[in-house]
Amino acid sequence: MNQRALQIGLAGLGTVGTGVYETLCRNHDLLQARTGIPYAVKRVAVRDIHRHREVLIDSSLLTGDWHELVEDPEIDIIIELIGGTDEAYKLVKAALTAHKPVVTGNKALLAEYGSELFRLSAENSTPLYFEASCGGGIPIIQCLQNSLVCNHVRRITGIINGTSNYILSSMERKGVSYRDALSNAQLKGYAEADPTLDVNGWDAAHKALILAMLAYGTPLSPENIAVYGIDRVSPVDFHFARELGYNIKLLVVIRHHEDRDALELRVQPSFISRQHMLSNVYGVFNAIAVHGDIVGETIFYGRGAGKNPTASAVIGDVMLAMRDCRHPEFHSGFHPYTKQLPLLPLEDTVTPYYVRFHVSDTPGVIATIAAELAKFDIGISATMSRGLEGEEEACDLVFLLHACPWGRLCRALDGLKAHREIAPHPAVFRIEKLNEEA
Ligand code: HSE
Repeated sequence: MNQRALQIGLAGLGTVGTGVYETLCRNHDLLQARTGIPYAVKRVAVRDIHRHREVLIDSSLLTGDWHELVEDPEIDIIIELIGGTDEAYKLVKAALTAHKPVVTGNKALLAEYGSELFRLSAENSTPLYFEASCGGGIPIIQCLQNSLVCNHVRRITGIINGTSNYILSSMERKGVSYRDALSNAQLKGYAEADPTLDVNGWDAAHKALILAMLAYGTPLSPENIAVYGIDRVSPVDFHFARELGYNIKLLVVIRHHEDRDALELRVQPSFISRQHMLSNVYGVFNAIAVHGDIVGETIFYGRGAGKNPTASAVIGDVMLAMRDCRHPEFHSGFHPYTKQLPLLPLEDTVTPYYVRFHVSDTPGVIATIAAELAKFDIGISATMSRGLEGEEEACDLVFLLHACPWGRLCRALDGLKAHREIAPHPAVFRIEKLNEEA
């Protein structure tokens, strides 16, 4: 049977866009054989059509205006890889309104406009795919939507920012500085053009919002979640973490608390046991642990950023979109099991903690800290200390604390501000217990 080739419009020819274009060309026969559907890239929208590019592309395919993709009646599928939220929002909205399935990897767009765009997708019976928005090459979105569909998701914990994991790994393993590790991540194309969101935790938070939306159907607003980045992680904390049997990872925690019917969602650098698999996720790799009531614990691992892994995720979606175009009767969309879960207030979230105080080495300072913690009924499970080179009179004092609510810990730390022998702003990390049953 001679089928018409499906026509693809690609918006964005940056790192990932180039990987997508190259792979659609290079693995054309494989993809066509596996889907049974012929396709061609008809048009590519770029910001500057005159810019020199590494990729070999027929210049007649290029346009400087994405509207041409949406308005072209022959284009069946739109791939949005232009990034940002302004133009990308207009493009995705216009494409869905024009009944063209959209494939995007834009997590910031979904975090900000996801509810509206998914509603538009449903109203127009036009699918919106977003595998590449979370976990790079790991097919976590399709797993949550399809393979794990029978599960109530109890908990998702993961490392979902490749850049920050690369930086923390370099600091931990090679002892390089934060700045050098960040420059390397940029050179390798892992970090976003502006790496602020990578290192301040918000890239991971945007992805966490997408995972939470899939697992619980709860639309969450970015303003309400607790997000801390890796910029305050210091080499001395890696030293103590290692001594105590932990590693430090930027961790996303999404957990359903059945007793309160509330959702805990937070992003922060955390201490995790060196025995746990997530502790051994190094470099740009991501790993996401999903605990479902039927399947139990699962862990998904792979490259969380970079040109080809992300292109792999995008093209997986493009192939689904092609099947939908050929067989729209089978597309019913994914309907999240909507639960209007409130967020658990941050101050009620409970973990054990690592707290490092920088103190004057005076008699009684440990007792002062212990007494203030005891006032708030916070128990101590271990202490360590280390003198500081060049600072005879000062030292670092580390306390491992039993689990207590975050709000209570904050009040105890506030109480210690009055003591001049204790420097303000101790380093505080949560210790995540990853092996407990959900
Ligand atoms: N900058 C992102 C990361 C890329 O480092 O994980 C993939 O979203």
